[in-house]
Amino acid sequence: MMHKKSLISITDYSKDDYLRIMDLAADFEANPNQDLLKGTVIASLFFEPSTRTRLSFESAINRLGGRIVGFTDSSSSSVTKGETLHDTIRMAANYTDLIVMRHPLEGSARYASQIAGVPVINAGDGANQHPTQTLLDLYSIKKTQGKLDDINIFLVGDLKYGRTVHSLLQALSVFKNPIFNFVSPPELSMPIEYKRYLDSKGIKYFEHREFTDIISAADIIYMTRVQKERFTDPMEYEKVKNIYILRNKMLQNTKETMRILHPLPRVNEIHPDVDSNPKAYYFEQARNGIYTRQAIISLILGLIK
Ligand code: CP
Repeated sequence: MMHKKSLISITDYSKDDYLRIMDLAADFEANPNQDLLKGTVIASLFFEPSTRTRLSFESAINRLGGRIVGFTDSSSSSVTKGETLHDTIRMAANYTDLIVMRHPLEGSARYASQIAGVPVINAGDGANQHPTQTLLDLYSIKKTQGKLDDINIFLVGDLKYGRTVHSLLQALSVFKNPIFNFVSPPELSMPIEYKRYLDSKGIKYFEHREFTDIISAADIIYMTRVQKERFTDPMEYEKVKNIYILRNKMLQNTKETMRILHPLPRVNEIHPDVDSNPKAYYFEQARNGIYTRQAIISLILGLIK
């Protein structure tokens, strides 16, 4: 199914693929250190900064006995001499069995997958997609809620530029009866194409400006950072940067089973007084990235059927 298949958009994979990845992630969580990737070399090409995605990919690969080549900053590569993305990808494919790539340009990962000759995993392309984040988000929802059907989710913050919410919306849409609540200022609202996508599937969504008084029904509150790096006008960023801040006292009337997710990094949108609340799950969520990425890599390389 996934063998040799690039992962560029979450829609490249099926519901069965998602479920297979989650089952396997649970196995890796129980036993994360194995020799499955012995003799495998993986390129880690980060043209844009990252902490969690890069470190969890690298931890996942190291724990499976694989090796990594690449860069954490393209200024240390021949891109600074004018080498194109095309040539950089062709070179990385020459040297490795799989490419993990983050790039600021939307569509760059798809382009890389068309020319590489080895599978490519999109580790985030501009405001477009971040599919491995979505798979670890699904794993986190399944772990905390015991199911992926009938999830009432509040997506809060920058729904325009936040690539993780775009991938997550599409992934949750393959499960039964999701309810989406979009909380954003008008200038950062969910793009129309994603709302049309939900309309085409007959899935319910609601749009809100505020969320303090309406989160009692939430199974998941998914907070997001306002994506400063995607704004062309710094004044526009200043206007919205602190628009939503989740504080501990706001959680009093929420469900016992509700969990707060955030792809991280956070800036101000979750106050540190939430961190010690048992409903805060974002650090565990980030840890789940290791096991989920171990599962994705193993399936793409055909090391596990
Ligand atoms: N969640 C996420 O993509 O974090 P990084 O930007 O630190 O990789």
